Amino acid sequence: MFITIEGPEGSGKTTAVDTAVEELKKMGYQIVRTREPGGTPIAEQIRNVILDKNNVAMDQRTEALLYAASRRQHLVEKVWPALKEGKIVICDRYLDSSLAYQGGARGLGVDNILQVNSFATEGTFPDLTLLFDIDPEIGLARIAANADREVNRLDLEKIEFHNKVRNTFLELARRYPERFVVIDASQSRENVAKKTLETMLSRICK
Ligand code: TYD
Repeated sequence: MFITIEGPEGSGKTTAVDTAVEELKKMGYQIVRTREPGGTPIAEQIRNVILDKNNVAMDQRTEALLYAASRRQHLVEKVWPALKEGKIVICDRYLDSSLAYQGGARGLGVDNILQVNSFATEGTFPDLTLLFDIDPEIGLARIAANADREVNRLDLEKIEFHNKVRNTFLELARRYPERFVVIDASQSRENVAKKTLETMLSRICK
């Protein structure tokens, strides 16, 4: 079972998933929790290049290729071996982030990014994708209020960029209804965490 977590900045997805993972582990499920870009040493090095605020000269296609490269390395070293062992892999961000950020918001085209990523992933799609949906104005205000979270190169984009990210995510949820579940992330933390656990359990137990 391969579960991915998607959504814009400040949607509170990490906290909600942390809570759900704790509960699932208590129930005895073997969970591998990981994230993109990164998750393995090589992929983390690629992550540092992508997110470095000093890399203002980075070309958009270079950015898309680096995300795909990091994704591939992470699949090979971490995701595929864990899935083979029958574990549940829960990954913060995956392919759909590239489709929304590079394809939609950067304007490179969802289908072009899908093509690059089918080479990188050899067609590995998630079984379940949780989309934490929130108005970017609220999400960005939450980030600004959270002093612990470091601001990265993509956070610094204008609000229109983040609106495009959100709209592309919602389009993807309509395009792939069999694997997407949209969670309203403007609700209270407790409700979001509860819905997250319920959604994961209902798919795991299916
Ligand atoms: P991160 O600090 O992990 O963000 P978050 O806590 O919001 O998940 O930074 C990852 C950034 O990279 C985030 O702004 C989204 C972006 N991103 C892409 O643009 N394309 C991708 O394919 C992925 C995986 C992430």
